[in-house]
Amino acid sequence: MILRPSFARWFALCLFSSSVLAASPDGVVAVSHPAAAAAGARMLAAGGNAIDAAAAVQFALNVVEPQSSGLGGGGFMLVHLAQTGQTFIVDSRERAPQKASADQFAPDGLPMPFPLASTSGLAVGVPGTLRGVDTALKRWGTKTLADTLAPAIELAGHGFRVNRFLAADIANDGGRTALHPETAAIFRPKGVPLAEGDWLVQPDLARTLRLIAARGADAFYRGPLARAIVEAQRRTRSELGETGKGRMALADLAAYRVAIREPLIGHYRGWTLATMPPPSSGGLTVLQMLGLLERFPLGDAAQGYGFGSPKTLHAMIEAMRLAFADRAVWIGDDDAVALPREGLLHPDYLATRAALITPDRRMDTPQAGDPTPWDKTAVPPPSSRAWAESPHTTHFAIVDRWGNVVSYTSTIEYTWGSGITVPGYGFLLNNELTDFNFVPAADSAAGNPGANDVAPGKRPRSSMAPTLLFKDGKPVAAYGSPGGATIINSVLNVTLNLIDHGMPMQQAIAAPRLSVTHATGKVGCEGGLAFMQPRIGVAAQDALRKLGHTGLGEAGTDGCAETIGSVQAVMIDPATGEHHGAADARREGTVVRVRP
Ligand code: GLY
Repeated sequence: MILRPSFARWFALCLFSSSVLAASPDGVVAVSHPAAAAAGARMLAAGGNAIDAAAAVQFALNVVEPQSSGLGGGGFMLVHLAQTGQTFIVDSRERAPQKASADQFAPDGLPMPFPLASTSGLAVGVPGTLRGVDTALKRWGTKTLADTLAPAIELAGHGFRVNRFLAADIANDGGRTALHPETAAIFRPKGVPLAEGDWLVQPDLARTLRLIAARGADAFYRGPLARAIVEAQRRTRSELGETGKGRMALADLAAYRVAIREPLIGHYRGWTLATMPPPSSGGLTVLQMLGLLERFPLGDAAQGYGFGSPKTLHAMIEAMRLAFADRAVWIGDDDAVALPREGLLHPDYLATRAALITPDRRMDTPQAGDPTPWDKTAVPPPSSRAWAESPHTTHFAIVDRWGNVVSYTSTIEYTWGSGITVPGYGFLLNNELTDFNFVPAADSAAGNPGANDVAPGKRPRSSMAPTLLFKDGKPVAAYGSPGGATIINSVLNVTLNLIDHGMPMQQAIAAPRLSVTHATGKVGCEGGLAFMQPRIGVAAQDALRKLGHTGLGEAGTDGCAETIGSVQAVMIDPATGEHHGAADARREGTVVRVRP
C-alpha cells in the first residue's frame, strides 16, 4: 500500500489497520492509539527513520493518551541501529530532586496513604521524557524536534475524538481528574466528565508544544515553563486535603540529564533478549523468571505442560513469586546503590532458587535470596558514577524500512499521574517518586541495601521492560507493555508464548496472561474478553487452587477475568527481511505500515 503524508488520510488508514497483523518490507508502527500511530507513520512517509517516528508518536500520545505518558513523565527507549547492530537504551526516567529524603513518604515512620501521597507535589519527579526524545533525535534522528512535534501540535490545537479508553479512564479515575482545577477544566469541562465521542481540544498544550518546537527542549527545563512546573508541584492542597509540598527546584530541572545505557542481555532456549537494565527492574526480573523457567519443559504437552496447563501455570506463578521477592530487596537505581546484577542472573544462584519450586504445592512465601556470593561485578560504590550524558504507562514499537527498531515504554506513573496539570501549559505531572519505597528499607545488619529508598538525584525503580528478541544474532521482535509491576509479567507471558508455545506474535499478544507481582502473591489471570484465546479453563484454575494458589475465587468458578497490560510489537522476518506489526485489542492497538 502506498501512503502519502495527509493527516486525515493517515487517520482513516489507521482505523482500517487497527489490530490487524500487517506485513511489509517497509516501515511499521504499532501503537496503542490510532492517531499516535498516524503521527509516527507520517514521519516514516516523509523519509524519517524509526527514531523520528518514535518522537512523533510520543508527543502525539501526550495529546491523545494524556493519562498515560507525556512531557511531565519519563520512560525507557530501546534503540537498535541496523547499520552497526548496536542497541542502546535512552533512560529518561524521572529523578528525585536534590531536596528529596528517604523518609519523605513516611515522616512519622508510617507510610502516607497512597491516594494522598500520589496526588501531591511530593510525588513529582524531575521529568525526563522531552530530554530523552530530544537526545535520541540528536544522536540518531534525521528530523528536527519541530518536525516531530507537528502532528501533536495539530492534534492538540485542532482536537480529536475521545475514545472508549480515555473516556473510561476519566469515568473510573477515583476522582483524580477532579482534584486540581486545571485538570478538571480539560477532562471535566463545567464539571461533566468527557465521554466517548466528545471532541477534545487542548489549546494550552498546543501552545506548549509550539513553544518547544520554536525554542527547543531547553524551553522546558529553564525559564517560565520550568518556573510553572516548580510552582505547580509546590501546591499544598487538593480536593483530598493537605498534601505534601513538592521539593523540586529550578536547579533540578536545569540539571536533568538522560543516561544512555547498554541493554541488559540474557538468553532463553537459544534466543537472546536485549532488555531494560536498572533503574528498571523490568529486564532483570524477566530474565530471572526465564532463567528459573528454562528448567521446565513449558512447551511440551506430552509431559503435561503446554499453554494453560496447571503444570505450566504453577511453574510461572512460582517463578514470578521468587523473582519478585528478589526484586523487592535487590533492585533499584544502581547509579546510586550497588546492585548484584551478575549474581541475580547467575545460573548457579538461579538453580538454588528453582530448587524451591515443588510440583505438588504452592511454596511458602519466599524471602529474597542472597545472590552476592555469585556476584563478581565490581559495582562502583554509591555516588562514584557521574550522571551519564550520553523506565499508567504506554508501550509502542517501530521498525523503519532500513531495519532500525525502537521499543519504547513511557509513563507518568499512575493513570493521570499526580493529577496536577501545569497551569497555562496543559500537561500532567507524574507521581513517579511513589515508585520508591515509602518506608526506608536500608538495614545493613539485615543485609538490605535499601536499593529503592528515596535519595537526592536517584531514579525510582521501574518495571518497564521494552525488549528486543534476537535469533542467531538478528533482531526478530520488539515488544513491551504498560501496567506497573504487571509489565514484567506481560513481557514474560508474551516471551513464553512466542518461544515455548510457538505462537505467532498477534496470538502471543491476544492470549490470556497470568500475573503475580509479590512473593505473597495472589494470582491475577485474564479471560474476560472474547479475543483472549485459548482460555485458561476452570479445570486448570481448580488445579491451581488445589496446589494452594489464591486470588482465583471459589472452586468451580471462572476466576480469570482481568485485563493486564497492552503489548505492541514489531517483527522482522529473518528469512524474508519483511517487517510486521502486531497490536493489542486491550486498548485501541493500531498497526500502520508505510511503503514510500
Ligand atoms: N511507574 C511504572 C513503572 O515505572 O514501571
